[in-house]
Amino acid sequence: MSMTGRFAIVGPEMEDFETPDLAFCQKPPRRKPFLTMLSTPDSLARTVGDLDFERGELLGVSNQGEVRRFQIDGLDVAIKQPKGRGLAWTLRAASLKHEYKAYQRLRGLAGLPVCHGLFPGPRLVLNFVEGQALRDAAIAREDPYFTALLALIRALHDRGVAHGDLKRKANLLVDLQGRPVILDFGTATLHKPGRHPVNQRLFRLIEQTDLNAWVKLKYGGYQGLSEEDRRLLKRTGVERWLGRLRRR
Ligand SMILES: Nc1ncnc2c1ncn2[C@@H]1O[C@H](COP(=O)(O)OP(=O)(O)O)[C@@H](O)[C@H]1O
Ligand SMILES: [Mg+2]
Repeated sequence: MSMTGRFAIVGPEMEDFETPDLAFCQKPPRRKPFLTMLSTPDSLARTVGDLDFERGELLGVSNQGEVRRFQIDGLDVAIKQPKGRGLAWTLRAASLKHEYKAYQRLRGLAGLPVCHGLFPGPRLVLNFVEGQALRDAAIAREDPYFTALLALIRALHDRGVAHGDLKRKANLLVDLQGRPVILDFGTATLHKPGRHPVNQRLFRLIEQTDLNAWVKLKYGGYQGLSEEDRRLLKRTGVERWLGRLRRR
């Protein structure tokens, strides 16, 4: 986060804005100091800020918060907001900010929802993606879906984002053309360039976890793998331990 006078700027660094307009800035609210610079048009920011969140169609609830669908400013959007109060709320809000950072790194990549921004609330606004949850779609392992998903996972990694929660099928959609869409970057690991050995080691580990998740999604487990796919799989000690724990 960078600071300009009394205004905290969230997300993209100043140079990422095509036309930085300080009129979009608001005085930082006390409890939410980082949610103050709006990187998308004023009207959308106002509409999102004024929304009665409970009125949106519920798409998902988790420990993190809720996702609801709205039609606003001619857009069909899924809005995610943290739940709870106090420290729990603060941690969830931080995770939403982290998710926003991941979306910024991935801007322009096909295979994820377009992100319109992080607005006071905090509210993360994404395009709603029409399709089916992967867990409800019967996709054969020979389906091009899995080849496209592997290419998408590698594209995320090339941008310095390792997802880390791809074994959860609720985080994957099949769009209307049968293509993969990845959601939920709240726990993604972002690669830090320069000398950050701990971060970079963790990043490599999570990259591998994503590849292992791809194998598991394709085969429904770790049996019957083709020679080529077997070469991708390198289960980490933690994954084996968690697998054993789940089987008990
Ligand atoms: N952009 C979107 N388009 C369509 N459905 C979405 C979108 N974002 C989230 N969802 C739905 O909401 C659910 C929860 O979203 P997710 O980002 O995984 O939140 P959580 O952090 O609560 O797991 C998803 O499993 C999916 O069904
Ligand atoms: Mg999720």
